[in-house]
Amino acid sequence: MIGAKPRRMLITGGNAGIGLALAKKLAGRHQLLLSGRKPHADVADLIPAGAAYVVADQSDPQASAQALVDGVRELGWDGLDNAVLNAGLGMAAVDGIDTTEAIRRTLDVNLAAAIAQARALYPLLEKTKGTLTFVGSVAHKGSATIPAYAASKAGLQGLARALRSEWSGRVSVQIVHPGPTKTEIHDKAGYDPGPMRALFLDVGDVAKMMASAIATRRSPVTVSWVRYLNGGAFTGRRL
Ligand SMILES: NC(=O)c1ccc[n+]([C@@H]2O[C@H](COP(=O)([O-])OP(=O)(O)OC[C@H]3O[C@@H](n4cnc5c(N)ncnc54)[C@H](OP(=O)(O)O)[C@@H]3O)[C@@H](O)[C@H]2O)c1
Repeated sequence: MIGAKPRRMLITGGNAGIGLALAKKLAGRHQLLLSGRKPHADVADLIPAGAAYVVADQSDPQASAQALVDGVRELGWDGLDNAVLNAGLGMAAVDGIDTTEAIRRTLDVNLAAAIAQARALYPLLEKTKGTLTFVGSVAHKGSATIPAYAASKAGLQGLARALRSEWSGRVSVQIVHPGPTKTEIHDKAGYDPGPMRALFLDVGDVAKMMASAIATRRSPVTVSWVRYLNGGAFTGRRL
């Protein structure tokens, strides 16, 4: 049966929001390595029992990539079936103008780290003919309040397209674009969505749709209300 075999999976940003919801959904069936910026002691009670955790601060893209590879090796894994590069942040721009620091940080954490991690994880994914999943955003098409964030996600879209072609037949590469979802990312970004927040998708539903999208290996996949209203959280492939 497709999806029945336990997989060795890495999920970055696995200690909060969408990454944590995905980890909780998959923990019973798969071996998980989660990463985040916070120390293990701060998240030990949050992450699913049995999931391993590694600190990989993406504000230093190259060091974060090395930390992930070290984390995989410490578990004794000689390959990876799935890497879900999900960690990310946003920073609200005042009057549409990002500060230099916000631009640098957003591009480092959301884009440069993903590039460095993809390259570092490639040999592990190649061993299993595995799947590399980038988590983008519907904002990759442009979003007024968060220009640097939108640019970082547009960059991920281009990266995913390039690697999907380049690594074809060796590693499956896909990008999944969530729509607005009820997590703390907006508060952390200093952005108040106001009454619109009520329309954001439930994080558990987004995680379910993301798991199905990962199982299909298709790209790009938008995980939004349209998919939800079509039953996307209740049907689809099982990972
Ligand atoms: N929520 C939405 O509406 C939405 C919509 C579209 C796309 N997305 C995308 O979905 C992904 C997850 O977002 P979310 O809503 O779940 O956000 P979240 O709840 O704020 O979680 C963000 C995760 O990223 C990690 N992270 C942030 N900065 C980091 C850094 N410098 N180094 C390492 N890890 C870092 C966090 O780890 P720490 O807690 O340790 O900092 C946390 O695990 C992001 O890529 C986001 O852009 C979200």
